[in-house]
Amino acid sequence: MDAKVANVSVNTDDFFATVAEKSDGAALRGDYSKIDAQYVVKQEWDAYTPEQHALWRRLYQRQAKLIPGRACDVFIESLELLNIGDGIPRFEESSALLFKATGWTLVAVPGLVPDHIFFEHLASRRFPVTVWLRDPEEFDYIVEPDVFHDFFGHVPLLFNPIFADHLQDYGKGALKAMKLGGLAMLARLYWYTVEFGLIQSPEGLRVYGAGILSSGGEIEHCLTSPESLRLPFDVERVMRTLYKIDSYQETYFVIDDFQQLFNDTAPDFTPMYERLKALEPLPANTLLPGETNLSLK
Ligand code: PHE
Ligand code: CO
Repeated sequence: MDAKVANVSVNTDDFFATVAEKSDGAALRGDYSKIDAQYVVKQEWDAYTPEQHALWRRLYQRQAKLIPGRACDVFIESLELLNIGDGIPRFEESSALLFKATGWTLVAVPGLVPDHIFFEHLASRRFPVTVWLRDPEEFDYIVEPDVFHDFFGHVPLLFNPIFADHLQDYGKGALKAMKLGGLAMLARLYWYTVEFGLIQSPEGLRVYGAGILSSGGEIEHCLTSPESLRLPFDVERVMRTLYKIDSYQETYFVIDDFQQLFNDTAPDFTPMYERLKALEPLPANTLLPGETNLSLK
């Protein structure tokens, strides 16, 4: 399939073939007919229906109630600043606020995009946000990320300057990892930090991972359930650990602060990729000898 916009013809065949393979033949649900060469589209905010805005409000209200005492400070503060409780936000407005804070912008995309496109956006301080909203039947669970997950979960964190710098470096690092055969390892890092990360605070454990922050159930589970492990963040351990995509996480990794995340991921990963390629990855529920599960007090 070729999408044509403004005389740019984007060959999307490989991408859709890979998606079909990974998802057992299922197709992506976004509309990819109007993408540009970076898979960017217009948000078309006026096309959202009143029902969709009402569904956003319900999703927002459920999550907003769960946030105090569970989400990290920057999430709570930025959410207030963004003022997005009334309906699906206009990306351009939020993007202007974000740009003032950390120099990041938001771009609208139809849904999942090819890896290298995603990483190029991050490396250029652009965060891709899916335009479509889940259906009411998917209130609690969706298979692909939608605008609620992408926006509510990810955008507030980008207001923290250190996290924002980290995510840009992640994008650059991932483009490099693609050449070094390290992408599976870097994907685990993203999963256990940007999507499902926990962080220490003086008041106790808090959430900064977008996959948790946009989930009605996991936000409580990740902080209190004795069924899951909580381990101190260690880059090499994280990059060795497999993850679950269809259940709550069996292990969470806890950072002390965003500076630790930034510093620990700054060194050249090339030798680490080589070391890790020689090791078997660990199942998601592994507790190695000598490791301690952080107590919940
Ligand atoms: N430091 C990593 C490298 O050299 C790149 C990276 C930065 C990866 C930040 C993840 C996060 O490959
Ligand atoms: Co996400």
